[in-house]
Amino acid sequence: MATRAEVEVLPTREALMEAAAARFVSAAGAAIRASGRFVVALAGGSTPKALYALLAGAPWAGRVDWSRVHVFWGDERCVPPDDPASNYRMAREALLAHVPVSERNVHRIRGEDDPRRAAAAYERVLRETFATPVGPPRRAPGARFDLVLLGMGDNGHTASLFPGGTAVRETERWVVAERIDAVEMWRVTLTPVVLNAAAEVAFLVSGAEKAPMLRRVLEGPHEPDALPAQVVAPDDGRLRWLVDAPAAARLERR
Ligand code: 6PG
Repeated sequence: MATRAEVEVLPTREALMEAAAARFVSAAGAAIRASGRFVVALAGGSTPKALYALLAGAPWAGRVDWSRVHVFWGDERCVPPDDPASNYRMAREALLAHVPVSERNVHRIRGEDDPRRAAAAYERVLRETFATPVGPPRRAPGARFDLVLLGMGDNGHTASLFPGGTAVRETERWVVAERIDAVEMWRVTLTPVVLNAAAEVAFLVSGAEKAPMLRRVLEGPHEPDALPAQVVAPDDGRLRWLVDAPAAARLERR
């Protein structure tokens, strides 16, 4: 049975980022206590940049044992790592360059490679990290993501699960590549198979332009092919939506 979503509405974008930083720190502490490490998937897009900048500085940076943090990404644009569109580049510049995370533990998706090969290679790294050479991800500490951060596009996509795409229906592979006509680009993305095995998923949604879609995704009919964000529902984990008041303005149930 999928987890019920917890929706937390914060008054401002700044308050949303503070709440997200607090979640990150607390999830990291709990995971390190339980399994000796914290395995997190970072979101791309523009929203989380402010969160990463917060985590990079005082007081938040000092509240994480970065030597035990393992960093992955939920998706990547198929561009080189120094491209302005690279999700890796954004997270590196905003966060990873400023904290003592071990390079060995930073696992980027190779956007510069052939997309299908990059997806297969990333799945191998994940399977090794989670000690699960075949089959679905196990729901056990150390065998799944401790935290997955996600954003939501105003068309209802999340990670690179896009409306009308095939990735949203994937039932076996953990990572796939798909050409997305809407953005005229290849993307590599984690699939629902691995996202829904996470211990915790946190969506960050900010801004009035997201309000109509947030209402459809959270309160409308279940139509994940059209609204891929709806497919994310960990079956043995927590699902939180951290949203600011402008994004939440159209919600009826708060
Ligand atoms: C990406 C993403 C994507 C993003 C949403 C929201 O690579 O684009 O990971 O799923 O989270 O598009 O993006 P914004 O935060 O820029 O609105």
